[in-house]
Amino acid sequence: MPKNIDLTDNLEKYIIDHSENMTDIQKEIIDHNTSLGDQKRLQISISQAQFLQTIIKISNTKKILEVGSFTGFSALSMASALPSDGILISLDKNFEFCNKAKSFYEKAKEKKIKQIIKPAMDSLKELNNSNQKFDLIFIDADKENYINYFDISINMVVSGGLIIIDNVLWHGEVSDKSKNDKFTNIIREFNDHLKKDNRVTKNIIPIGDGLTICIKK
Ligand SMILES: C[S@@+](CC[C@H](N)C(=O)[O-])C[C@H]1O[C@@H](n2cnc3c(N)ncnc32)[C@H](O)[C@@H]1O
Repeated sequence: MPKNIDLTDNLEKYIIDHSENMTDIQKEIIDHNTSLGDQKRLQISISQAQFLQTIIKISNTKKILEVGSFTGFSALSMASALPSDGILISLDKNFEFCNKAKSFYEKAKEKKIKQIIKPAMDSLKELNNSNQKFDLIFIDADKENYINYFDISINMVVSGGLIIIDNVLWHGEVSDKSKNDKFTNIIREFNDHLKKDNRVTKNIIPIGDGLTICIKK
């Protein structure tokens, strides 16, 4: 059986050093998030951001919906990969995080990002009711709602469009039968739900905490 590379922190650093450079504002957001202590773990990894940027560019994505903004690292990274007439709507319920994110978007002069600040399910229902369609939906908010977010997203993504979900490997614990805490089980339930869904093709990519890439048929 072919063996995957053991991705050590040292190798991850090498990968980042030899990939596309981050902008000063991306670095600033990371520094800010690091200053928040434990909350830093909410942010996607640098490699994930670069991977999402590549996906956006090769798929000619123009319209993105993000569920879970935090301080804006993923939104700003994705928006910068969009063409100038692209748009990214980012959903989060936390005013403090959203205000901080807004300050970074302004500093980066990034005008393609629109924020909606309220519980994400309310925003998703409103966007769906107004028949909004997206080329890519990125789900990275409360895990308890992942199935609900996915099930509504499927109506809102164009055929051939992408739904990408973060944290699907949950620190690698999903395959460890000795782990039976609430969140590991929630992610397992989500992964099982997705596995049965024939409306999308899916592929789990072991990058960061694990991304599932779904393509709507
Ligand atoms: C993992 S973080 C998002 C990280 C972000 N994508 C990044 O890479 O920087 C999850 C976010 O979801 C938000 N969140 C949690 N529950 C939510 C809900 N029910 N509705 C909207 N946002 C929610 C939190 O406030 C938090 O900012």
